[in-house]
Amino acid sequence: MATPLRDHVIAYLELNHKIVEAGAVDLLLKDRQPLILCRAVLDVIGADAPIITQEMVEEVVARQISPRPRLGAPSSSAGTSARGAAPSPREPFAVLREGFTPPPAHQDPLRAYGRLFQDRYRRLSRMLRGRPGLGTVDAIRDLGHGAKEASIIGMVCDVHVTSKQHHIVLTVEDESGSLRVLIPRDSPLAHQPILSDEVLGLALTLPKDGGQLARVEALERPDIPLTRAIGRADQPHRTLFLSDLHIGSKSFLEDEWGRLIGFLRGEGPDAGAAGGIDCAVIAGDLVDGIGIYPHQERDLAIGDIVEQYAELGRRLRELPASMPIVVVPGNHDAVSPAEPQPALAAGLAKSLPDNVRSLPNPSTFALHGVVIEAYHGRSFDDLIPALPGTSYSRPTDVMKRMLAMRHLAPIYGSRTPLAPLPRDGLVIDPAPDIFVTGHAHTFSIDRYRDVLLLNVSTWQGETEYQKMRNISAVPARAAVVDLTQPTHRSSVVTIDASGRDVQVRNGIPA
Ligand SMILES: [Fe+2]
Repeated sequence: MATPLRDHVIAYLELNHKIVEAGAVDLLLKDRQPLILCRAVLDVIGADAPIITQEMVEEVVARQISPRPRLGAPSSSAGTSARGAAPSPREPFAVLREGFTPPPAHQDPLRAYGRLFQDRYRRLSRMLRGRPGLGTVDAIRDLGHGAKEASIIGMVCDVHVTSKQHHIVLTVEDESGSLRVLIPRDSPLAHQPILSDEVLGLALTLPKDGGQLARVEALERPDIPLTRAIGRADQPHRTLFLSDLHIGSKSFLEDEWGRLIGFLRGEGPDAGAAGGIDCAVIAGDLVDGIGIYPHQERDLAIGDIVEQYAELGRRLRELPASMPIVVVPGNHDAVSPAEPQPALAAGLAKSLPDNVRSLPNPSTFALHGVVIEAYHGRSFDDLIPALPGTSYSRPTDVMKRMLAMRHLAPIYGSRTPLAPLPRDGLVIDPAPDIFVTGHAHTFSIDRYRDVLLLNVSTWQGETEYQKMRNISAVPARAAVVDLTQPTHRSSVVTIDASGRDVQVRNGIPA
Protein backbone atom coordinates (compact mmCIF):
# COMPACT_ATOMS: atom_id res chain seq x y z
CA MET A 1 0.00 0.00 0.00
CA ALA A 2 1.31 3.42 -0.93
CA THR A 3 2.45 5.51 2.01
CA PRO A 4 1.63 9.21 2.19
CA LEU A 5 5.31 10.09 1.75
CA ARG A 6 5.42 8.03 -1.44
CA ASP A 7 2.42 10.01 -2.69
CA HIS A 8 4.26 13.23 -1.88
CA VAL A 9 7.33 12.17 -3.84
CA ILE A 10 5.25 11.18 -6.87
CA ALA A 11 3.16 14.36 -6.69
CA TYR A 12 6.26 16.51 -6.32
CA LEU A 13 7.81 15.01 -9.44
CA GLU A 14 4.52 15.33 -11.32
CA LEU A 15 4.47 19.03 -10.45
CA ASN A 16 7.86 19.18 -12.10
CA HIS A 17 6.41 17.44 -15.19
CA LYS A 18 8.13 14.09 -14.59
CA ILE A 19 6.91 10.52 -14.62
CA VAL A 20 8.79 8.30 -12.21
CA GLU A 21 9.46 4.55 -12.28
CA ALA A 22 8.38 2.56 -9.22
CA GLY A 23 11.96 1.44 -8.57
CA ALA A 24 13.11 5.04 -8.64
CA VAL A 25 10.49 5.99 -6.06
CA ASP A 26 11.62 3.13 -3.81
CA LEU A 27 15.17 4.39 -4.02
CA LEU A 28 14.17 8.00 -3.34
CA LEU A 29 12.20 6.92 -0.27
CA LYS A 30 15.23 5.14 1.18
CA ASP A 31 17.04 8.47 1.41
CA ARG A 32 16.96 10.48 4.61
CA GLN A 33 15.64 13.51 2.71
CA PRO A 34 13.59 12.11 -0.19
CA LEU A 35 12.36 15.44 -1.56
CA ILE A 36 15.82 16.98 -1.41
CA LEU A 37 17.09 13.99 -3.37
CA CYS A 38 14.20 14.53 -5.83
CA ARG A 39 15.42 18.09 -6.27
CA ALA A 40 18.97 16.89 -6.91
CA VAL A 41 17.72 14.36 -9.48
CA LEU A 42 15.68 17.09 -11.23
CA ASP A 43 18.73 19.33 -11.31
CA VAL A 44 20.86 16.61 -12.86
CA ILE A 45 18.46 15.30 -15.50
CA GLY A 46 17.24 18.73 -16.63
CA ALA A 47 13.98 19.74 -18.25
CA ASP A 48 14.09 17.51 -21.34
CA ALA A 49 13.89 14.03 -19.80
CA PRO A 50 10.22 13.15 -19.14
CA ILE A 51 10.87 9.96 -17.14
CA ILE A 52 12.94 9.43 -14.01
CA THR A 53 14.40 5.94 -13.96
CA GLN A 54 15.92 3.95 -11.12
CA GLU A 55 19.30 4.21 -12.86
CA MET A 56 19.08 8.01 -12.86
CA VAL A 57 18.45 8.08 -9.12
CA GLU A 58 21.28 5.59 -8.53
CA GLU A 59 23.61 7.82 -10.50
CA VAL A 60 22.70 10.90 -8.46
CA VAL A 61 23.08 8.98 -5.21
CA ALA A 62 26.47 7.70 -6.35
CA ARG A 63 27.55 11.27 -7.07
CA GLN A 64 26.91 12.35 -3.52
CA ILE A 65 30.33 13.14 -2.13
CA SER A 66 29.60 11.56 1.23
CA PRO A 67 26.75 9.25 2.12
CA ARG A 68 23.86 10.98 3.85
CA PRO A 69 23.25 9.81 7.40
CA ARG A 70 20.11 7.85 7.94
CA LEU A 71 17.30 9.07 10.15
CA GLY A 72 18.43 8.81 13.74
CA ALA A 73 22.11 9.04 12.84
CA PRO A 74 22.41 12.80 12.84
CA SER A 75 25.25 14.71 11.26
CA SER A 76 27.21 17.26 13.25
CA SER A 77 25.95 20.08 11.09
CA ALA A 78 22.29 19.39 10.92
CA GLY A 79 19.45 18.30 13.10
CA THR A 80 20.50 16.37 16.13
CA SER A 81 18.51 14.17 18.37
CA ALA A 82 19.38 15.02 21.93
CA ARG A 83 22.12 12.65 23.07
CA GLY A 84 22.13 11.27 19.50
CA ALA A 85 19.08 9.10 20.08
CA ALA A 86 16.74 8.27 17.22
CA PRO A 87 13.02 8.96 17.36
CA SER A 88 11.04 5.87 18.09
CA PRO A 89 11.05 3.58 15.04
CA ARG A 90 7.26 3.46 15.40
CA GLU A 91 7.19 7.17 14.52
CA PRO A 92 7.30 7.62 10.74
CA PHE A 93 9.26 10.84 10.92
CA ALA A 94 11.40 12.02 8.03
CA VAL A 95 13.34 15.24 7.65
CA LEU A 96 12.66 16.56 4.16
CA ARG A 97 14.65 19.78 4.21
CA GLU A 98 17.03 21.20 6.74
CA GLY A 99 17.19 24.91 6.08
CA PHE A 100 20.77 25.17 7.24
CA THR A 101 23.55 23.95 4.97
CA PRO A 102 27.05 24.37 6.41
CA PRO A 103 29.11 27.00 4.58
CA PRO A 104 32.18 25.89 2.64
CA ALA A 105 35.46 26.67 4.38
CA HIS A 106 37.27 29.90 3.48
CA GLN A 107 34.49 31.31 1.35
CA ASP A 108 34.57 34.87 0.07
CA PRO A 109 31.45 36.47 1.65
CA LEU A 110 30.58 38.54 -1.42
CA ARG A 111 30.78 35.55 -3.75
CA ALA A 112 28.86 33.51 -1.19
CA TYR A 113 25.97 36.00 -1.22
CA GLY A 114 26.07 35.89 -5.02
CA ARG A 115 25.65 32.11 -4.91
CA LEU A 116 22.86 32.39 -2.33
CA PHE A 117 20.79 34.72 -4.51
CA GLN A 118 21.57 32.71 -7.64
CA ASP A 119 20.27 29.60 -5.88
CA ARG A 120 17.13 31.47 -4.78
CA TYR A 121 16.53 32.75 -8.29
CA ARG A 122 17.01 29.35 -9.94
CA ARG A 123 14.81 27.44 -7.52
CA LEU A 124 11.94 29.94 -7.54
CA SER A 125 12.11 30.51 -11.30
CA ARG A 126 11.83 26.76 -11.76
CA MET A 127 8.48 26.93 -9.96
CA LEU A 128 7.30 29.74 -12.25
CA ARG A 129 8.32 28.29 -15.60
CA GLY A 130 5.51 26.74 -17.57
CA ARG A 131 2.77 28.88 -16.03
CA PRO A 132 -0.01 29.52 -18.56
CA GLY A 133 -0.03 33.20 -17.56
CA LEU A 134 3.58 33.58 -18.57
CA GLY A 135 3.99 31.38 -21.63
CA THR A 136 7.52 31.19 -22.95
CA VAL A 137 9.95 32.96 -20.64
CA ASP A 138 12.70 35.07 -22.19
CA ALA A 139 16.04 36.10 -20.80
CA ILE A 140 16.19 39.83 -20.17
CA ARG A 141 19.14 40.26 -22.55
CA ASP A 142 17.10 38.70 -25.40
CA LEU A 143 14.23 41.21 -25.19
CA GLY A 144 13.70 43.96 -27.73
CA HIS A 145 13.89 42.17 -31.09
CA GLY A 146 10.65 43.48 -32.50
CA ALA A 147 8.27 41.47 -30.28
CA LYS A 148 5.29 43.29 -28.75
CA GLU A 149 4.98 41.04 -25.73
CA ALA A 150 7.32 38.94 -23.63
CA SER A 151 7.55 37.24 -20.26
CA ILE A 152 10.47 37.27 -17.89
CA ILE A 153 11.26 35.92 -14.44
CA GLY A 154 13.12 38.42 -12.32
CA MET A 155 14.32 39.04 -8.81
CA VAL A 156 13.23 42.45 -7.56
CA CYS A 157 16.23 44.75 -6.98
CA ASP A 158 14.35 47.98 -6.41
CA VAL A 159 10.80 49.28 -6.07
CA HIS A 160 10.42 52.97 -6.82
CA VAL A 161 7.29 55.16 -6.88
CA THR A 162 7.60 58.09 -9.28
CA SER A 163 7.25 61.44 -7.54
CA LYS A 164 4.73 63.10 -9.88
CA GLN A 165 2.58 60.36 -11.41
CA HIS A 166 2.92 57.78 -8.59
CA HIS A 167 3.58 54.99 -11.04
CA ILE A 168 5.63 52.04 -9.77
CA VAL A 169 8.94 51.33 -11.42
CA LEU A 170 10.49 47.96 -10.65
CA THR A 171 14.07 47.06 -11.36
CA VAL A 172 14.32 43.31 -11.81
CA GLU A 173 17.18 41.09 -12.80
CA ASP A 174 17.73 37.58 -14.05
CA GLU A 175 20.98 35.77 -14.76
CA SER A 176 21.40 37.64 -18.05
CA GLY A 177 20.84 41.24 -17.04
CA SER A 178 18.50 43.75 -15.43
CA LEU A 179 15.47 45.71 -16.60
CA ARG A 180 13.27 48.54 -15.37
CA VAL A 181 9.55 47.92 -15.88
CA LEU A 182 6.48 50.05 -15.22
CA ILE A 183 3.32 49.31 -13.26
CA PRO A 184 0.98 52.26 -13.94
CA ARG A 185 -0.74 53.63 -10.87
CA ASP A 186 -4.18 52.75 -12.30
CA SER A 187 -3.19 49.09 -12.81
CA PRO A 188 -4.78 46.59 -10.36
CA LEU A 189 -1.21 45.33 -9.87
CA ALA A 190 -0.25 48.67 -8.33
CA HIS A 191 -2.24 47.87 -5.18
CA GLN A 192 -0.26 44.83 -4.09
CA PRO A 193 3.01 45.56 -2.34
CA ILE A 194 6.07 44.15 -4.06
CA LEU A 195 9.03 43.31 -1.87
CA SER A 196 12.73 43.60 -2.47
CA ASP A 197 14.42 40.35 -3.42
CA GLU A 198 11.26 38.38 -4.15
CA VAL A 199 11.14 36.47 -7.43
CA LEU A 200 8.30 37.28 -9.82
CA GLY A 201 7.09 36.15 -13.21
CA LEU A 202 6.14 39.19 -15.28
CA ALA A 203 4.15 39.31 -18.53
CA LEU A 204 5.19 42.48 -20.32
CA THR A 205 4.09 44.71 -23.15
CA LEU A 206 7.28 45.91 -24.78
CA PRO A 207 7.62 49.52 -25.88
CA LYS A 208 7.91 50.50 -29.55
CA ASP A 209 10.21 53.25 -28.51
CA GLY A 210 13.44 52.18 -26.85
CA GLY A 211 13.21 55.16 -24.50
CA GLN A 212 10.06 53.89 -22.77
CA LEU A 213 9.72 51.24 -20.11
CA ALA A 214 8.12 47.84 -20.64
CA ARG A 215 4.71 47.72 -18.98
CA VAL A 216 3.73 44.91 -16.58
CA GLU A 217 0.44 43.32 -17.70
CA ALA A 218 0.42 40.34 -15.33
CA LEU A 219 2.40 39.23 -12.32
CA GLU A 220 2.83 35.70 -10.99
CA ARG A 221 4.31 34.55 -7.72
CA PRO A 222 5.65 31.00 -7.30
CA ASP A 223 2.84 30.28 -4.80
CA ILE A 224 1.30 27.02 -3.61
CA PRO A 225 -0.19 24.95 -6.45
CA LEU A 226 -3.99 25.01 -6.41
CA THR A 227 -4.08 21.25 -6.92
CA ARG A 228 -1.63 19.05 -5.08
CA ALA A 229 -1.61 15.93 -2.95
CA ILE A 230 -2.41 16.73 0.68
CA GLY A 231 -0.55 14.61 3.21
CA ARG A 232 -2.71 12.67 5.64
CA ALA A 233 -1.97 10.18 8.38
CA ASP A 234 -3.64 6.86 7.71
CA GLN A 235 -3.99 6.16 11.45
CA PRO A 236 -5.23 8.56 14.17
CA HIS A 237 -2.39 10.83 15.25
CA ARG A 238 -2.59 14.27 16.86
CA THR A 239 0.25 16.76 17.15
CA LEU A 240 0.70 19.55 19.69
CA PHE A 241 2.16 22.82 18.38
CA LEU A 242 3.86 25.24 20.79
CA SER A 243 6.29 28.10 20.53
CA ASP A 244 8.35 30.67 22.42
CA LEU A 245 8.81 29.04 25.81
CA HIS A 246 11.48 31.59 26.81
CA ILE A 247 12.77 29.42 29.63
CA GLY A 248 15.00 31.50 31.90
CA SER A 249 12.88 34.62 31.67
CA LYS A 250 11.39 36.04 34.86
CA SER A 251 8.18 36.26 32.83
CA PHE A 252 8.04 32.52 32.06
CA LEU A 253 4.41 31.57 32.80
CA GLU A 254 5.02 28.79 35.25
CA ASP A 255 1.39 28.38 36.40
CA GLU A 256 0.03 28.36 32.86
CA TRP A 257 2.72 25.85 31.79
CA GLY A 258 1.76 23.71 34.75
CA ARG A 259 -1.88 23.74 33.61
CA LEU A 260 -0.82 22.64 30.11
CA ILE A 261 1.20 19.79 31.58
CA GLY A 262 -1.76 18.78 33.74
CA PHE A 263 -4.03 18.81 30.68
CA LEU A 264 -1.60 16.62 28.72
CA ARG A 265 -1.47 14.19 31.65
CA GLY A 266 -5.24 13.87 31.58
CA GLU A 267 -6.18 16.18 34.45
CA GLY A 268 -9.14 18.57 34.41
CA PRO A 269 -12.63 18.54 32.89
CA ASP A 270 -11.49 18.77 29.25
CA ALA A 271 -8.63 16.35 29.56
CA GLY A 272 -10.28 13.98 27.08
CA ALA A 273 -9.20 16.44 24.40
CA ALA A 274 -5.59 15.47 25.13
CA GLY A 275 -6.21 11.92 23.93
CA GLY A 276 -4.15 10.76 21.00
CA ILE A 277 -1.58 13.58 21.15
CA ASP A 278 1.57 11.68 20.31
CA CYS A 279 4.03 14.32 19.11
CA ALA A 280 4.92 17.95 19.86
CA VAL A 281 6.51 20.62 17.68
CA ILE A 282 8.08 23.74 19.22
CA ALA A 283 8.78 26.64 16.85
CA GLY A 284 11.74 28.34 18.52
CA ASP A 285 12.74 30.71 21.32
CA LEU A 286 13.12 27.68 23.52
CA VAL A 287 15.01 29.78 26.05
CA ASP A 288 15.17 33.53 26.67
CA GLY A 289 18.90 33.70 25.88
CA ILE A 290 21.46 36.25 26.95
CA GLY A 291 22.08 39.71 25.50
CA ILE A 292 19.31 39.52 22.94
CA TYR A 293 18.09 43.09 23.63
CA PRO A 294 19.42 45.98 25.74
CA HIS A 295 19.40 45.36 29.50
CA GLN A 296 17.84 41.90 29.07
CA GLU A 297 19.64 40.78 32.25
CA ARG A 298 16.99 42.67 34.26
CA ASP A 299 14.34 40.30 32.82
CA LEU A 300 16.22 37.05 33.43
CA ALA A 301 15.55 34.56 36.21
CA ILE A 302 18.43 32.38 34.94
CA GLY A 303 21.42 34.39 33.80
CA ASP A 304 23.51 31.49 32.49
CA ILE A 305 22.75 30.13 29.02
CA VAL A 306 23.80 26.56 29.84
CA GLU A 307 21.53 26.65 32.89
CA GLN A 308 18.67 27.94 30.73
CA TYR A 309 18.96 24.85 28.51
CA ALA A 310 19.25 22.61 31.57
CA GLU A 311 15.97 24.11 32.83
CA LEU A 312 14.46 23.67 29.35
CA GLY A 313 15.39 19.99 29.63
CA ARG A 314 13.60 19.78 32.99
CA ARG A 315 10.49 21.46 31.57
CA LEU A 316 10.41 19.20 28.51
CA ARG A 317 10.70 16.16 30.77
CA GLU A 318 7.35 17.22 32.23
CA LEU A 319 5.75 16.37 28.87
CA PRO A 320 4.90 12.67 28.42
CA ALA A 321 8.17 10.81 27.86
CA SER A 322 6.55 8.77 25.09
CA MET A 323 5.91 11.91 23.06
CA PRO A 324 8.59 12.79 20.47
CA ILE A 325 9.30 16.53 20.54
CA VAL A 326 10.64 18.32 17.46
CA VAL A 327 12.29 21.67 18.19
CA VAL A 328 13.82 24.41 16.04
CA PRO A 329 15.71 27.41 17.45
CA GLY A 330 14.58 31.04 17.33
CA ASN A 331 16.32 34.38 17.59
CA HIS A 332 16.59 34.06 21.40
CA ASP A 333 18.34 30.68 21.21
CA ALA A 334 22.08 30.19 21.49
CA VAL A 335 22.82 29.60 17.82
CA SER A 336 23.93 31.95 15.06
CA PRO A 337 21.28 34.65 14.62
CA ALA A 338 21.69 34.67 10.81
CA GLU A 339 19.03 32.63 9.02
CA PRO A 340 18.84 29.77 8.30
CA GLN A 341 20.00 28.89 11.80
CA PRO A 342 21.72 25.60 12.60
CA ALA A 343 20.28 23.18 15.13
CA LEU A 344 21.31 23.54 18.77
CA ALA A 345 24.93 22.64 19.42
CA ALA A 346 25.43 19.19 20.89
CA GLY A 347 26.71 20.73 24.14
CA LEU A 348 23.32 22.37 24.73
CA ALA A 349 21.15 19.66 23.18
CA LYS A 350 22.63 17.13 25.63
CA SER A 351 20.55 18.77 28.38
CA LEU A 352 17.35 17.83 26.59
CA PRO A 353 15.53 14.53 27.03
CA ASP A 354 16.07 11.67 24.60
CA ASN A 355 12.69 12.15 22.96
CA VAL A 356 13.70 15.60 21.63
CA ARG A 357 14.72 15.96 18.02
CA SER A 358 16.56 19.25 17.47
CA LEU A 359 16.49 20.60 13.90
CA PRO A 360 17.69 23.78 12.17
CA ASN A 361 15.43 26.80 11.72
CA PRO A 362 13.66 26.48 9.34
CA SER A 363 13.07 22.78 8.73
CA THR A 364 10.58 20.75 6.76
CA PHE A 365 9.70 17.28 7.91
CA ALA A 366 7.06 14.65 7.33
CA LEU A 367 5.14 13.36 10.30
CA HIS A 368 2.91 10.38 9.55
CA GLY A 369 2.93 11.55 5.92
CA VAL A 370 1.96 15.16 6.70
CA VAL A 371 4.52 17.72 5.54
CA ILE A 372 5.26 20.32 8.22
CA GLU A 373 7.23 23.53 7.69
CA ALA A 374 8.54 24.89 11.01
CA TYR A 375 10.01 28.39 11.02
CA HIS A 376 10.48 30.61 14.02
CA GLY A 377 9.28 33.79 12.29
CA ARG A 378 11.98 36.41 12.75
CA SER A 379 11.20 37.85 9.31
CA PHE A 380 7.83 39.09 10.60
CA ASP A 381 9.92 42.04 11.84
CA ASP A 382 10.66 42.95 8.21
CA LEU A 383 7.52 41.78 6.47
CA ILE A 384 4.95 43.39 8.76
CA PRO A 385 6.30 46.93 8.15
CA ALA A 386 6.56 46.17 4.41
CA LEU A 387 3.04 44.77 3.98
CA PRO A 388 0.34 47.35 4.75
CA GLY A 389 -2.58 45.96 6.73
CA THR A 390 -0.58 43.22 8.45
CA SER A 391 0.26 43.15 12.15
CA TYR A 392 1.71 41.00 14.91
CA SER A 393 -1.83 40.21 16.04
CA ARG A 394 -2.43 38.16 12.85
CA PRO A 395 0.90 36.78 11.68
CA THR A 396 -0.98 34.21 9.58
CA ASP A 397 -1.68 37.01 7.06
CA VAL A 398 2.06 37.39 6.60
CA MET A 399 2.47 33.62 6.41
CA LYS A 400 0.10 33.59 3.42
CA ARG A 401 2.39 36.01 1.64
CA MET A 402 5.43 33.88 2.53
CA LEU A 403 3.72 30.90 0.89
CA ALA A 404 2.83 32.98 -2.18
CA MET A 405 6.48 34.05 -2.47
CA ARG A 406 7.59 30.52 -1.53
CA HIS A 407 10.14 32.25 0.65
CA LEU A 408 10.33 32.83 4.40
CA ALA A 409 12.53 35.92 4.53
CA PRO A 410 13.23 37.45 1.12
CA ILE A 411 14.36 40.93 2.15
CA TYR A 412 18.14 41.32 2.37
CA GLY A 413 19.75 43.94 4.57
CA SER A 414 16.96 44.57 7.03
CA ARG A 415 16.35 43.18 10.55
CA THR A 416 16.57 39.50 9.63
CA PRO A 417 20.23 38.68 8.99
CA LEU A 418 20.67 36.24 6.11
CA ALA A 419 23.54 33.76 6.23
CA PRO A 420 25.73 33.61 3.09
CA LEU A 421 25.19 29.91 2.46
CA PRO A 422 25.45 28.20 -0.92
CA ARG A 423 21.86 27.00 -0.77
CA ASP A 424 18.95 29.29 0.08
CA GLY A 425 17.39 27.32 2.91
CA LEU A 426 14.59 29.86 3.28
CA VAL A 427 12.93 28.83 0.00
CA ILE A 428 9.72 26.97 0.85
CA ASP A 429 10.10 23.73 -1.08
CA PRO A 430 8.25 21.40 -0.96
CA ALA A 431 4.86 22.98 -0.26
CA PRO A 432 3.83 22.04 3.29
CA ASP A 433 0.50 20.79 4.61
CA ILE A 434 1.05 22.57 7.93
CA PHE A 435 3.10 25.76 8.33
CA VAL A 436 3.92 26.68 11.93
CA THR A 437 5.63 29.80 13.29
CA GLY A 438 6.05 31.66 16.58
CA HIS A 439 7.97 34.86 17.33
CA ALA A 440 4.90 37.15 17.38
CA HIS A 441 3.80 35.99 20.87
CA THR A 442 0.21 36.04 19.66
CA PHE A 443 -2.06 33.24 18.50
CA SER A 444 -3.70 32.86 15.11
CA ILE A 445 -4.81 30.01 12.89
CA ASP A 446 -5.87 30.21 9.27
CA ARG A 447 -5.69 28.33 6.00
CA TYR A 448 -4.27 29.21 2.61
CA ARG A 449 -4.62 27.02 -0.47
CA ASP A 450 -5.15 23.97 1.71
CA VAL A 451 -2.16 24.70 3.92
CA LEU A 452 -2.97 25.00 7.62
CA LEU A 453 -1.27 28.07 9.12
CA LEU A 454 -0.45 28.11 12.82
CA ASN A 455 1.13 30.90 14.83
CA VAL A 456 1.23 29.43 18.27
CA SER A 457 1.58 31.93 21.09
CA THR A 458 4.20 31.99 23.83
CA TRP A 459 4.73 30.87 27.43
CA GLN A 460 6.23 34.20 28.42
CA GLY A 461 4.23 37.10 29.85
CA GLU A 462 4.75 40.57 28.48
CA THR A 463 8.15 42.04 29.26
CA GLU A 464 8.88 45.75 29.62
CA TYR A 465 10.81 45.52 26.35
CA GLN A 466 7.77 44.16 24.54
CA LYS A 467 5.54 46.86 26.04
CA MET A 468 8.04 49.44 24.82
CA ARG A 469 7.77 47.91 21.31
CA ASN A 470 3.97 47.97 21.57
CA ILE A 471 3.64 44.19 21.30
CA SER A 472 0.53 42.80 23.03
CA ALA A 473 1.13 39.18 23.87
CA VAL A 474 -1.56 36.49 23.69
CA PRO A 475 0.22 33.88 25.82
CA ALA A 476 -0.38 30.35 27.05
CA ARG A 477 -2.12 28.94 23.97
CA ALA A 478 -1.26 25.86 21.96
CA ALA A 479 -2.80 24.15 18.94
CA VAL A 480 -3.51 20.46 18.48
CA VAL A 481 -4.01 19.13 14.94
CA ASP A 482 -5.53 15.85 13.84
CA LEU A 483 -3.13 14.57 11.20
CA THR A 484 -5.70 12.38 9.47
CA GLN A 485 -7.10 15.52 7.82
CA PRO A 486 -4.68 18.26 8.78
CA THR A 487 -6.02 21.00 6.57
CA HIS A 488 -9.66 20.61 7.60
CA ARG A 489 -11.17 23.37 9.74
CA SER A 490 -12.51 20.90 12.28
CA SER A 491 -9.13 19.23 12.74
CA VAL A 492 -7.69 22.03 14.87
CA VAL A 493 -8.18 22.43 18.60
CA THR A 494 -7.03 25.45 20.62
CA ILE A 495 -5.72 24.75 24.12
CA ASP A 496 -5.95 27.90 26.23
CA ALA A 497 -4.15 27.67 29.57
CA SER A 498 -4.27 31.41 30.29
CA GLY A 499 -7.25 31.20 32.68
CA ARG A 500 -7.89 29.33 35.90
CA ASP A 501 -8.86 26.18 33.99
CA VAL A 502 -7.66 24.99 30.62
CA GLN A 503 -10.17 25.88 27.91
CA VAL A 504 -10.48 23.73 24.80
CA ARG A 505 -12.01 25.20 21.64
CA ASN A 506 -12.60 23.29 18.41
CA GLY A 507 -12.07 24.63 14.93
CA ILE A 508 -10.30 27.64 13.50
CA PRO A 509 -10.97 30.76 15.63
CA ALA A 510 -12.63 33.67 13.82
FE1 LIG B 1 9.90 34.91 21.37
